[in-house]
Amino acid sequence: MALLDLAYMGHPILRKDARPIETPITDETRRLAADMLDTMAANEGVGLAAPQVHQGLRLIVFLLPGARLEPGEEAAEEVPTALVNPVFEPMSAELAHGLEGCLSIPGLRGIVPRFRHIRYRGLALDGTPVEREATGFHARVVQHEIDHLDGVLFLDRMTDLRSLAFESELHHLLDESA
Ligand code: NI
Repeated sequence: MALLDLAYMGHPILRKDARPIETPITDETRRLAADMLDTMAANEGVGLAAPQVHQGLRLIVFLLPGARLEPGEEAAEEVPTALVNPVFEPMSAELAHGLEGCLSIPGLRGIVPRFRHIRYRGLALDGTPVEREATGFHARVVQHEIDHLDGVLFLDRMTDLRSLAFESELHHLLDESA
């Protein structure tokens, strides 16, 4: 396992469509996913997509820390942490507005509208098909990471750039919305 170099906003790989991973899934892909999980943890992230480590492949990893889940959401250990070729569809048009950050855009946070309730599909690292419904934070993380596979960053999804803030100033924003 290894820590991988992150690509930061401005690197062209973050703006490209990532390519599907061919099946059967190889050890190389499993190694990349393991390194991405290590890299995510070392940088205290909750999600990471392969283009963020300079790999133009449709692979994402994510964590669902218990503290971030809404009441009724399932615990983190029941959720796959790596997904190959993930796709999602909204289950309703309802949007939720929530704060996001990104390891490729260090220090900044902003309010992003996302579908509140989605269904997503993909393959686990052993090739098993995964299909899940997600709401709230879980749904947000999955949408953010799949966006990376299509060259989209959370800033592109913001509808009010006035909510864009540095982490160090975030308490002002949170005070205002409380
Ligand atoms: Ni991101």
